[in-house]
Amino acid sequence: MEKPEISQKSPIPVEVKKGETYYWCSCGKSANQPFCDGSHKETSFAPRAFTAEKDETVYFCACKQTKNPPFCDGTHKNV
Ligand code: FES
Repeated sequence: MEKPEISQKSPIPVEVKKGETYYWCSCGKSANQPFCDGSHKETSFAPRAFTAEKDETVYFCACKQTKNPPFCDGTHKNV
């Protein structure tokens, strides 16, 4: 199976707004991390939609190896 690129080995905090939908990059190729910019086209990856339930800070996974996408689960410590 194709592996995602490691964008960086730490999560990216984002202030999300309640009711807004965000498209998390799962392939690691986006230049607009942690969000999809369409760069996954040549890969088997697709962005993952996330709709915020409240205003809060979300730590999006940037190593793309998380078991709990689109959120950081600490896996970056082992990549
Ligand atoms: Fe990575 Fe779209 S650019 S999933």
